[in-house]
Amino acid sequence: MTSSMTSSTTSSTITSTTHRATPFAPADTRDADESATYAAALERSAVLDALIDQHATGDPDDSTEDAARLRMLTGDRPTGPLHIGHYLASLRNRVRLQDKGVETFVVIADYQVITDRDSVGEVGANVQGLVLDYLAAGLDPARTTIFTHSAVPALNQLMLPFLSLVTDAELRRNPTVKDELALSDGRPLSGLLLTYPVHQAADILFCHSRIVPVGRDQLPHLEQTRAIARRFNQRYAAGHSVFAEPEALLSEVPLLLGTDGTKMSKSKGNVINLRDTADETAARVRAARTDSERRITFDPKGRPAVANLLTIAGLFLDESPEVVAERVDDGGAQALKRVVTDAVNDSLAGHRARRADLARDPAYLTSVLHEGNARANEVAERTLATVRAVMGMSY
Ligand code: TRP
Repeated sequence: MTSSMTSSTTSSTITSTTHRATPFAPADTRDADESATYAAALERSAVLDALIDQHATGDPDDSTEDAARLRMLTGDRPTGPLHIGHYLASLRNRVRLQDKGVETFVVIADYQVITDRDSVGEVGANVQGLVLDYLAAGLDPARTTIFTHSAVPALNQLMLPFLSLVTDAELRRNPTVKDELALSDGRPLSGLLLTYPVHQAADILFCHSRIVPVGRDQLPHLEQTRAIARRFNQRYAAGHSVFAEPEALLSEVPLLLGTDGTKMSKSKGNVINLRDTADETAARVRAARTDSERRITFDPKGRPAVANLLTIAGLFLDESPEVVAERVDDGGAQALKRVVTDAVNDSLAGHRARRADLARDPAYLTSVLHEGNARANEVAERTLATVRAVMGMSY
């Protein structure tokens, strides 16, 4: 067993002073348990951030174990284009972690597309769109492994032993799976939707990832992954740490809403996509919901739609929403919208230009995926060999 296969965590020895913003989105319907889990995950995320910083400035001689401990995996479902919510809450952060020296894996979760719908849709074009946005945002294929589920058989095979470690009651209790089922137009619960948290555990554990940047909705999956790692070690590896328990790294970005003040959703036409032109962006912001009060203030409870626009502008401008509000002051909705449009378009101009350049070279995009898939296969085959060995299945 290599030194990367250790389950001990040093995070408990570091205390953190940073606390994350609480989302101002309308109160959700989660119970008290979920809030407690979320609060605990926020605390742990702050500790993880401190660890990452320590790693970034740390002793290079110490790098072998640290590098293994600080591998991260996250991913996206290729169901459509990425929008500014993905960019602000997730993509920018991945690049930041990559640039701090965290070894980064990004899964394009193509098998997850069919968890809640009957067809894969434009999966090829969507995968290509994701790769374009990753590269344009600054993910570097020399340092970051970008791969698709369907091209990594050994990862998928891990699902079989992992499935033996979960009960059907546990799977049926998963609140995110329940929500996704409720949103899927009365579809019956498919075996894939029920078990996709286990598949996601395979995504995370195949590369021994210790850090998993996720949104709040993914926390139940991370708990499931931790349980699978623990149980695998206990049941099949005589207590040896084949798999370490990964930690969620929650985004500091509050939940962002669409331009109509409701949840961002492609079908509602309330999102600004990264690939949109400056004019399309301006039109979308012009149509955004606001209110008739002339003086612009940051009041998430009383004026959620205005607060959401201020938050978006603030995130792009690296300013607090209050400061943006003060600047707009009594300019009204029109001035606010101008500030938002300029903030989005100016910040994304470079990204959009790089994206357009890259799109002219589809052969390069294919080569990035081929190399990422080759690397993911190597790592997955190594892990699967270990799993088979400890299970007495090396024939
Ligand atoms: N389910 C995630 C999402 O919809 C994407 C995903 C797939 C993922 N596998 C993962 C995220 C593993 C983190 C870790 O956003």
